[in-house]
Amino acid sequence: MKKVTVTLQVNGAPRTVTVDANARLLDTLREDLRLTGTKEGCGVGECGACSVLLNGELVNSCLVLTAQCDGARVETIEGLSPDGELHPLQAAFIDNNAVQCGFCSPGMLMAAKSVLDRHPEPSEEQIREGMSGVLCRCTGYKQIVDAVKDAARREGNK
Ligand code: FES
Ligand code: FES
Repeated sequence: MKKVTVTLQVNGAPRTVTVDANARLLDTLREDLRLTGTKEGCGVGECGACSVLLNGELVNSCLVLTAQCDGARVETIEGLSPDGELHPLQAAFIDNNAVQCGFCSPGMLMAAKSVLDRHPEPSEEQIREGMSGVLCRCTGYKQIVDAVKDAARREGNK
């Protein structure tokens, strides 16, 4: 397999990797960069567990080739709390019981960050639309929507 060398800005730091030309961004993050917070569920773009921000856009990292990402900015769940302090979204997910098994949570949190980046005071419809690509088998979604509203309030009260 042909190899490609790609430099990415991952959570604000430049990272250079040499990977197979057909490597998925998901595998590069998890296996080459050891950022295992991003999860693989379906592997075919249907569950959203692998969601990350690529140049500020929410993407399924299982559907993106690393070779396409040279020079790109990637934000993963690890970037939400670089100093170990919980991001307001993470604190709100815990306080609103929006996490059960936790498998969807990294993708949910990145989708929620994408919503709040675009809509600092989101409507319920904007939250539900923005997070509709991430599936949760446990919570029933209400607590997740409540958590995003709560995080928006916390951010607004800073
Ligand atoms: S693992 Fe990427 S969408 Fe399911
Ligand atoms: S908390 Fe289990 S899948 Fe969402």
